Amino acid sequence: MSTASTLKFYATDKTEIAPAIKAGYETLVNGTGADAHMRGWMNWAAPYLKSEEYARLKKTADYIIKNFKHAIVIGIGGSYLGAKAIIDAEHGDANAFDLPWKTNVHFVASLSSKEWNNIEHIIGSDSFCIIYISKSGTTLEPGLALRYFYELHKNLHDKEPTVYAITDKCKGTGRALADEHGWETFIIPDNVGGRYSVFTPVGLLPIAIAGIDTDLILNAVAAADELCSSTIDNPAVDYANWRFEQYQNGCVVEMMPVNNPELRSFAEWWKQLYGESEGKDFEGMVPHSAVFSMDLHSLGQYLQEGLRGIMCETFFTWEDSIKVTFPESDLKDGLDYLSGRTLSEVNNAAMEGSYFAHSSIGDDPNACSKFICSKGIENLAYAMQIFEWACPIGCYALDVNPFNQPGVEAYKKQVKAILNEGKLNS
Ligand code: PA5
Repeated sequence: MSTASTLKFYATDKTEIAPAIKAGYETLVNGTGADAHMRGWMNWAAPYLKSEEYARLKKTADYIIKNFKHAIVIGIGGSYLGAKAIIDAEHGDANAFDLPWKTNVHFVASLSSKEWNNIEHIIGSDSFCIIYISKSGTTLEPGLALRYFYELHKNLHDKEPTVYAITDKCKGTGRALADEHGWETFIIPDNVGGRYSVFTPVGLLPIAIAGIDTDLILNAVAAADELCSSTIDNPAVDYANWRFEQYQNGCVVEMMPVNNPELRSFAEWWKQLYGESEGKDFEGMVPHSAVFSMDLHSLGQYLQEGLRGIMCETFFTWEDSIKVTFPESDLKDGLDYLSGRTLSEVNNAAMEGSYFAHSSIGDDPNACSKFICSKGIENLAYAMQIFEWACPIGCYALDVNPFNQPGVEAYKKQVKAILNEGKLNS
């Protein structure tokens, strides 16, 4: 089981816990804040490990692996980002490659004709099932993808596809369709919102289909819950406190550099968690991300010498579990000193060097903090749960509701008006 030692948090300017953060932590733990009934994710993992639904979920994943070449995972926002974060971290970009495990997982989370077309092209005439994930069961993007791939299956294979619906227990079109067609369902609990749902069936079914050990993950998440609920001395509070201080100092952007492209989706998940939770009531830092070392050759310049006082940086390094060693070579390239050393060593030097340069060199350098996460997918899951704890603590410190997203409705209204009436709704 994971412990706090698998994730370390460091900051250039570590200070006492601010009273507002202490109050935010107490508000979260005691359930006295806005939408406190949405804290179901806080102690979900330990009991879920022993539940009948989880045993069924693992059996279903095994069945899918044995019977389908592809799983089309349909969902948007919190209904896919967490699963994609974990799967990409373990295997690389899940939509980009023909992956080495038996069932390829394809996420359909865009309105990109090219992306849908590419997936259609990759699956060809192979067998596929559909995993439809929508808590509300009324979101346009997943609704359209379901309709499209459902009909595609009927055209290709002359029968309805096998659909698994992860949705509300009684509301929404997803639930109604599942009941009508007899699809197997898994429940998104009422007390868990989309962006906090990665370790419910929303994330667990795709993750299990991708051949990743969900027992390990849930045990790590349970360990994070145990730590965060039992003491204020935990990395979630330290991180919430650090970024709260940067915000009070005037920072309006929080940049998260990650150390590998396979963490790009993890950073996307983190951006959604913070963007939708904190960005309301005219509050919150813009969550932004970069992939180092690649982006050191683009955004790196701005981070080092761009406009000052607006940005802080939270580096996230997940230790590599793969070893690539540089060979001896007769190339006269001046790189002999690296023969026998590993790619991870060079990558770590890029993270460490840029952390020092951004936080310590030049006039008014950026405030920086860093997480170092041990290798192993369960440790990344542990870190994700720590972020889930940190986020509402910081929101409550700003008197912001961490669990709603009222601003998302404004654009949806316009989309419907354009499609239904051919004009904007002013
Ligand atoms: O975090 C959230 O609640 C949102 O991002 C939702 O996950 C997203 O809008 C998708 O909603 P639904 O699962 O109802 O289709």
